[in-house]
Amino acid sequence: MTPERFGALWRSLAHVGRDATSGGYLRYSFGDADLRCREWFTEEALDRDLSVETDRNGNVWAWWGDQRGSDAVVTGSHLDSVPHGGAYDGPLGVVSALLAIDVLRERGLSAPHRPIAVVVFAEEEGARFGVPCLGSRLMTGAIAPEQVRTLRDRDRMTYADGLLAADLDPDRFGPDTERLGRIGVFVELHVEQGKALVELDAPIGVADAIWPHGRWRITIDGAGDHAGTTRMSDRRDPMLTFAYGVLAANKEARLAGAHATVGRVAVEPGATNAIPSRVTAWLDARAADPSTLDAVVAAVSGRLTERAGRDGTTVEIVAESVSPSVSFDPELRDRIVKTLGGPPVLPTGAGHDAGVLSAHVPTAMLFVRNPTGVSHAPGEHATDVDCAAGVNALADVLAELAWR
Ligand code: GLV
Ligand code: MN
Ligand code: MN
Ligand code: MN
Repeated sequence: MTPERFGALWRSLAHVGRDATSGGYLRYSFGDADLRCREWFTEEALDRDLSVETDRNGNVWAWWGDQRGSDAVVTGSHLDSVPHGGAYDGPLGVVSALLAIDVLRERGLSAPHRPIAVVVFAEEEGARFGVPCLGSRLMTGAIAPEQVRTLRDRDRMTYADGLLAADLDPDRFGPDTERLGRIGVFVELHVEQGKALVELDAPIGVADAIWPHGRWRITIDGAGDHAGTTRMSDRRDPMLTFAYGVLAANKEARLAGAHATVGRVAVEPGATNAIPSRVTAWLDARAADPSTLDAVVAAVSGRLTERAGRDGTTVEIVAESVSPSVSFDPELRDRIVKTLGGPPVLPTGAGHDAGVLSAHVPTAMLFVRNPTGVSHAPGEHATDVDCAAGVNALADVLAELAWR
């Protein structure tokens, strides 16, 4: 695969859902841009003589070989983005998978011994419905359809509404054990979301672990009132409790060597000249091990509650999603490292459908160097040269897995 060929396919998708002002992407599951990405994928897959289907949970599959066969070698990623996210998180794994199939064919390989599938998982980022990896979680039964039925986007739309927008049956989502049973192995290629590969001077890496992480919704209630007439001593201001909570999260994470972020907040009623009545915020916390993660969240929760007592506010903290630690299959990882001539092995603090799949089938991840180290923001990048190297590496891995 040449960098030029990678760049040509890459650019055929790059304009979809791009915000001209920020340069970032707004590709929310089952929204207009996401539906266009799905159409793009379907056309590219059909052009390659793959058979395309969308499963009951809204994940799209393109098959090379027996679609009903078992022990399939599955690769792919997602096409949805966080608000104003980067171009590479997700799409790089999908574009690379399609091009890896081209590479394999050009190497003269035909009729894989095990079926190969490229999958596009739905709602990986959780940017629309709040819970990440919904497509893979639903398929594997890691989340109950009853729980998904309660999730709403910012316009009060449901996952079922999303499926309907994609011309899918809104009533059939849920565990897909038959499909899961046909997956023999899953390999996801992804842009690196950090600078380890830059520091190691390596274009490609292999993942060994994902940090445990989760999202907690924090609701702080106080008393709305007039900004000009309410004495400072009479206020019950949830914004104060919130501000303290943000500082506490940062401090507790630093002390523990963990990561904590508050990236989303909603203030009610949201008037410049009114004390808020309610602040809702989302805490994203991650750590190398579950006990550290639990300790950080418990400390933030304790400090928020204590502060609320002083502010005359109340605090409720609810876990919206928790993703346990992932250790990728060591045998598969070693086989891939050997196939690729010994690239570096590294853990990540980012969540992936590969993490969800890893509880059910041998799973691995390849990372492509990101010169900025930035992710979930427009500055995310990978060079065409490194991306082409990623395609070739993925092709090597698929050849190793599907023709032996
Ligand atoms: C998803 O990319 C996440 O790690 O938040
Ligand atoms: Mn992401
Ligand atoms: Mn991703
Ligand atoms: Mn992710």
